[in-house]
Amino acid sequence: MSAEYQVQGNLAVITLNNPPVNGLGHATRQAIVQGISRAQEDAAVTAIIITGAGKAFSGGADIKEFNSPKAFAEPSLHTVISVLEEAEKPVIAAIHSVCMGGGLELALGCHYRIASPGAQIALPEVKLGILPGAGGTQRLPRVVGLETALNMIVSGNPVSSEKLAQTALFNQIAEGDLMTAATAFANQVAAVRPLPKVRDIRIDYPNYEAFLQFSRNTVKAMSGPFPAPLACVEAVAAAVSKKFDDGIQFERELFLKLVQTTESKALRHAFFAERAASKLPDVPDDTPVRTIKSVAVVGAGTMGGGIAMNFANAGIPVRILEMKQEALDKGLATIRKNYENTLKKGKLTQEKFEQRVALISGTLDYQEIAQADIVIEAVFEDMSVKQQVFQQLDAVMKPGAILASNTSTLDVDQIAAFTQRPQDVIGTHFFSPANVMKLLEIVRGKLTAKDVLATVMALSKKIRKTGVVSGVCDGFIGNRMIEQYSRQAGYLLEEGCTPEQVDKAVEKLGFAMGPFRMGDLAGNDIGWYIRKRRYVEKPHIIYSKTADLLCEMGRFGQKTGAGWYDYKPGDRKPYPSTVVNDMIVKHSADIGVERRKISDQEITERLIYALVNEAAYILEEGIANRASDIDMVYLTGYGFPLHTGGPMFYADTVGLSNVVRAMEKYAKGRHGEAWKPAPLLAKLAADGKTFN
Ligand code: 3HC
Repeated sequence: MSAEYQVQGNLAVITLNNPPVNGLGHATRQAIVQGISRAQEDAAVTAIIITGAGKAFSGGADIKEFNSPKAFAEPSLHTVISVLEEAEKPVIAAIHSVCMGGGLELALGCHYRIASPGAQIALPEVKLGILPGAGGTQRLPRVVGLETALNMIVSGNPVSSEKLAQTALFNQIAEGDLMTAATAFANQVAAVRPLPKVRDIRIDYPNYEAFLQFSRNTVKAMSGPFPAPLACVEAVAAAVSKKFDDGIQFERELFLKLVQTTESKALRHAFFAERAASKLPDVPDDTPVRTIKSVAVVGAGTMGGGIAMNFANAGIPVRILEMKQEALDKGLATIRKNYENTLKKGKLTQEKFEQRVALISGTLDYQEIAQADIVIEAVFEDMSVKQQVFQQLDAVMKPGAILASNTSTLDVDQIAAFTQRPQDVIGTHFFSPANVMKLLEIVRGKLTAKDVLATVMALSKKIRKTGVVSGVCDGFIGNRMIEQYSRQAGYLLEEGCTPEQVDKAVEKLGFAMGPFRMGDLAGNDIGWYIRKRRYVEKPHIIYSKTADLLCEMGRFGQKTGAGWYDYKPGDRKPYPSTVVNDMIVKHSADIGVERRKISDQEITERLIYALVNEAAYILEEGIANRASDIDMVYLTGYGFPLHTGGPMFYADTVGLSNVVRAMEKYAKGRHGEAWKPAPLLAKLAADGKTFN
């Protein structure tokens, strides 16, 4: 049963029971309506309580149903809410833990609401690219006021029940047991008539138009490509300017439009993709995990320091090992400075600042990290250096400690083979800046134990990362794909583009940064180092020489004050560089390529489809478990625009046959061999299917 009906004395209790969060799917909606009707017919029942089983009152409409006709099948959420509101006996919502979206709308349709302290109250629909579509925009302003409601609806952020205790949203915040309080309250109001309805409350806000206009302007400036936030403002505006039923109708029309937008589909995809990424087919949820109470990091460089901060932020002590006192001091000072900057910006309290700094210590002695539960190596990206470190770790670390490498491209199986305990070895690839970026690529070696994998996945949640599991291959999911993207970017320079033109084209699409600005930020020398290795290991791969020529000029990026762009001291703004652009034009002439005008469409297609084609190989080889994992890697680690849902979802939206058609066109140009569609992509396109 998706909702249980019980009669307790003179009260009917309807308990939503649709795990995990009592989503209001079709069956649950039906069960609520049936429950109300049974209660109405039972003369012995004087009032009805609605509550939720398990860990939520309700997480809202069942988002999984959104793409199916079930979402709109009767009884719709609107119908359910009307049935509650029109019930002849008092209906009391007993709210605990989570009351969100349609769950809150349902509660607003009840005559009374009682909540436990600490319940999370939200209308988070905007985060899914929609707006509350079952009266939330019309009823919430009537009980919490126009400004609070608008803030909640436009941000989608939860507010705790006790913060709303003074509003008309709650009739009571239950002190002790919620059901005991709800029962007492229900008995108190059993005879009250007429029954109070939120819809009957008038919103009293003189000069509301000025406030709404201000809100429109602010929200418009902040919502980028997403239409939902502004639609939220318009719907709330209707709550003050229209009659209730007209406002409901207006909200419904906006909801139906938004739910069909690509932006909303992309956000819903990202919501489920994030949750799916934490699941592995052969590692069940109940796999035992190892206890992680202390962490060690080898290397106090930029990555090591950033990695350490993640653990300190989560309250886990971390010790950093370095080879030289000077490097250790420098690394610890950088961490302290980072925290000081956050403190200065007011984003950290003095107390938290001190706690975090105190959790990070340094050492030069391997013995002093031996008892750590997990050690993460973040040293120079060179196999012989990794070998030395892992042999040392194998010698000193306590049995059962997890040995992780932050390598971004190297073979984790080879690293594991340097130890006598390959089952304890795993890759944890953080993205720079490691204390900020959400992505953690978790690299599963051939012999990595399942409990090690489960532990690291749980740990990634604890440090608030999106953990995505990758198999072992050169570059794993993210960097293996970016390699193809970078190669296309280099070819585009040779064929007629400037770095600025390429960057602008993808940034217009919503990328956080184009490839050349990204190179300047990350350091062009890193790619140079990797390419030099590839020239030896994989001589058949053809790269544009422009990036090597740039590095030969010493232009490594922002850190050297010059890269693809010029920089002014103390200013991260990129200025197009005549020297670099001349170098590129000369290089085209040197290799006999006649430069041509290249459209933004060609730029974006070549860059994105290069990613997609490589991703199809990655999927087919089982390096990624699912297409949506690849989307998560790109959304959380590479600044791929959220409103597109990630490269795979984007390709699905464009249509895979269209993607293949464009690739066939590019295959006729220079370096056409790169455009051979991966077998999986070709097959899905031919069958009219999608990745996701
Ligand atoms: N519908 C369907 N499934 C949902 C769901 C929903 N509304 N909300 C959460 N879930 C599922 C998740 O997919 C996940 O499933 P899984 O275990 O199979 O992966 C499971 O519930 C647990 O989710 P979390 O891992 O996120 O668990 P947390 O405890 O961290 O968080 C939560 C719980 C706060 C409810 C969080 O899941 C959340 O924010 N959910 C989204 C809530 C939301 O957006 N509601 C609005 C829906 S749209 C709506 O109501 C339209 C209406 O206005 C008409």
